[in-house]
Amino acid sequence: MDAATAGIEVLYSAAEIAERVTALAAAIAHDLGPELLLVAVLKGSFVFAADLLRALHFAGLQPEVDFMTLSSYGSGTESSGRVKIGRDVEDNVGGRRVLLVDDILESGRTLAFAKALLEERGAMVKVCVLLDKPVAGSRAVRADYVGFLCPDRFVVGYGLDYAHRYRELPYIGAFAPPPGAS
Ligand code: IMP
Ligand code: MG
Repeated sequence: MDAATAGIEVLYSAAEIAERVTALAAAIAHDLGPELLLVAVLKGSFVFAADLLRALHFAGLQPEVDFMTLSSYGSGTESSGRVKIGRDVEDNVGGRRVLLVDDILESGRTLAFAKALLEERGAMVKVCVLLDKPVAGSRAVRADYVGFLCPDRFVVGYGLDYAHRYRELPYIGAFAPPPGAS
């Protein structure tokens, strides 16, 4: 481990992630194939979406791909509570079977917003997230496909950032609590 990643505890290794992605792709191909449009919610999902896309190929699908850039977080770890569209999908989604892909489901505000938008345009939408982090209370949206149920900690790596950093880590990790913290 180098100095830049010291203090980050590995929660899901690259190998564990790869295994889950393959299993998710098999389930998705079984349920939804073959006419699928994968819509990745940027930026956080780009690593997961790229691996999932190739796993879907090995599962026998030929999905189309589009992207949306949404943001509900500022540069730190606190949700701003608002969802902003940076980039919208280019494809016409009317009548399409869409797999909406995101890195992590927390309050669900981001995905609820994206799902409603695509459904308003006539898409049939299923939601796939790599991580599902439990939150208190009810959620705005449910994920149809989940990679891992993740502890309630701030996680980074495999596309997920903290203040625009750590997306490049090949694993998913959480910051170790400071010494003395319970
Ligand atoms: P939601 O709208 O509360 O579900 O927030 C989901 C978005 O917040 C995700 O797509 C991530 O971009 C970001 N996010 C939530 N939790 C984490 C985390 O632990 N690490 C990094 N980003 C997170
Ligand atoms: Mg995100």
